[in-house]
Amino acid sequence: MSEEIKNTAEPKANNKILEVDNLRVYFHTKKGDSKAVDGNHFDMYENQTLAIVGESGCGKSVTAMSILGLVSEPGEIMPGSKILYTGNGKNVDLAKASDAEIQDIRGNEISMIFQEPMTSLNPVFTVGEQIMENIRIHEDISDEEAKARTIKLLGQVGISRPDEVFNNYPFQMSGGMNQRVMIAMALSCSPKLLIADEPTTALDVTIQAQILMLMNQLKNELGTSIMLITHDLGVVAQVADWVNVMYAGKVVETADVQTLFKNPKHPYTIGLMSSMPSLATEGSRLNVIEGTVPNPVYLPKGCYFADRCKHCMQKCLESQPPVVEFENGHKAACFLYEEAEQKGE
Ligand SMILES: Nc1ncnc2c1ncn2[C@@H]1O[C@H](COP(=O)(O)OP(=O)(O)O)[C@@H](O)[C@H]1O
Ligand SMILES: [Mg+2]
Repeated sequence: MSEEIKNTAEPKANNKILEVDNLRVYFHTKKGDSKAVDGNHFDMYENQTLAIVGESGCGKSVTAMSILGLVSEPGEIMPGSKILYTGNGKNVDLAKASDAEIQDIRGNEISMIFQEPMTSLNPVFTVGEQIMENIRIHEDISDEEAKARTIKLLGQVGISRPDEVFNNYPFQMSGGMNQRVMIAMALSCSPKLLIADEPTTALDVTIQAQILMLMNQLKNELGTSIMLITHDLGVVAQVADWVNVMYAGKVVETADVQTLFKNPKHPYTIGLMSSMPSLATEGSRLNVIEGTVPNPVYLPKGCYFADRCKHCMQKCLESQPPVVEFENGHKAACFLYEEAEQKGE
């Protein structure tokens, strides 16, 4: 029995492109170390979408930032962390790579879509210029070729009249259109791995559904591996193959998407599900999980979810819960299932 979930998303026949092992990211603050990510383990494969789900402050974005080499002081990727990127025949530990090595991969083989497109797009350049620029940083091609590729990409993300939109400034377009531009930019170098951090949170539901469909299509057509970060289980249900549920810097449950929805084990996962509008029965009140995620500077000795958990027992306050394995790689870190584990069920 180990104390941390070592997730291994179903490999099927796909190539592994990322192996994250024992990832710890601490922010060294005056009050002490803020353990934003404290022992994260997972693998990513081509043509798969891994969803990372959890409330705000659970370490989802910090996990993504570490893969992209964007953790800076007072943050530190702690010694012993491994982020092995094996896409495109490479073998680079991004936890230890130099800035130059990371820059060569970021925006090229690994790219990212952020929550708020308007803060990531430059207001003084047209969207076409920005995508072209991104292509030319990584590839030595002519203006004409870069422009043609940009217009094609805008079309691929579902923008009609892409040759006109090429000349638009971000402020001339809706949030949904700008998010499509961000996706086109993220795809401009045919990434092996796309990290999407709350990509649809700022969008209305119709646009959200279109963007999620687009991401699914990319995965299927280009074999892209997608890491989808969200606090919304509804989004997970629509696009994920595999799911890691994070709480206070740790993965508390991992499973394929069908299993997770059919048979959630961790009280936190169950709580998240019963707070989803689409899963609650009509007319019933939504169950919000009372309380808040603990401050990562002052983590309790026992289970981090204990103070919010309906099933909390004495031992939950005293030590870290065991990781219990169910069928098909489904795992949860919780004392509730400890006996089943011991009986070998
Ligand atoms: N630059 C920073 N300095 C100090 N603490 C940080 C910093 N960035 C993130 N954190 C802390 O790390 C924890 C995880 O944050 P984050 O990964 O952004 O959460 P999520 O994306 O799951 O909402 C939070 O407690 C947050 O306060
Ligand atoms: Mg975040």
